[in-house]
Amino acid sequence: MDLGQELWSRSMLYSDPPDHTRLRSLVNKAFVPRIVENLRPNIEKLSSSLLDSIDRSGPFDLMKGYAAPFPALVIAELLGVDISYRERFKNWSNDIVKGMDASLSQDDWSKSMKATMALASYFTDLIDEKKRNPGIDLVSQLIEAEEKEDRLGPDELLGMCLLLLVAGHETTTNLIGNGFYNLLKHRGKFKELQADRSIMHTAVEEMLRFESPVQRMGRVAKEDVMLSGTKIPKGSMVAGVIGSANRDPAVFPEPESFNLRGVKNQHVAFGKGIHFCLGSPLQGWRVLSLLMACSTVFQRRN
Ligand code: HEM
Repeated sequence: MDLGQELWSRSMLYSDPPDHTRLRSLVNKAFVPRIVENLRPNIEKLSSSLLDSIDRSGPFDLMKGYAAPFPALVIAELLGVDISYRERFKNWSNDIVKGMDASLSQDDWSKSMKATMALASYFTDLIDEKKRNPGIDLVSQLIEAEEKEDRLGPDELLGMCLLLLVAGHETTTNLIGNGFYNLLKHRGKFKELQADRSIMHTAVEEMLRFESPVQRMGRVAKEDVMLSGTKIPKGSMVAGVIGSANRDPAVFPEPESFNLRGVKNQHVAFGKGIHFCLGSPLQGWRVLSLLMACSTVFQRRN
């Protein structure tokens, strides 16, 4: 295993209990809704400054101007990393995520490992700096856990920083991109949302279901399993297709319709079980960012 792979294997996403339980409990408290709510004023400022900087006199690129930079800025804020690196974070993140795809090429894999090492080197310097000058950010809190409580090894600390930076990037960019793609395809729904913005909460849940930002997740069977009459032998790779589960007619009465007012939306866009998305309580800032972008796009299209 090379060093990049080794670092990822130390992150909670690729860990089983008891390591997973220990790692997750260290960051769980940083994601409680109260802390997320404290970030709200900054998120609002970041969101409106991005939207204001878009030239709306003609057609504009929402992905480049908003969907891509917005999550990078919020996560930078949360972790206490340098905002001027956001372009690099985005590129490293994109290369890393491509390397996690089941259908990757040798080139994708090399790029992914190179990006992991670049990001790891950035975080190594940042950790040294924060050890000297701690702040109130998440990286400083994790360093404290590493130093005082002896509950987080140095490689685990690095793996945690990598995961937190990468996990929220592409997922949130995809949500904003897919969400607006579907609003523009379903113009009546877009008008409905613009007329009654109080439905944005259920609308975001529907965007997560209808065109899920993460389409599948991988697992390795730890033992022989029988699933719906098929035997999955121990050691085999299994892909859980979230996009398909979220259009399951046994769960959703009208899976193919884009219904922004659905009340009981039991989608699995954030996964299921012990690896259920740590960033799911950040729903407030997803709603806010989409609300703010909604007016901008709507004004332009009408
Ligand atoms: C629309 C946005 C997002 C979606 C759709 C999403 C989706 C997911 C999914 C499906 C998983 C489970 C993966 C698996 O079981 O293999 C997951 C895990 C995770 N997500 Fe998210 N995510 C989003 C945003 C975020 C954000 C903003 C963060 C943090 C800043 C984050 C942090 C994590 C972490 C750390 C895990 C691993 C949890 C564990 O292993 O216990 N996610 N996410």
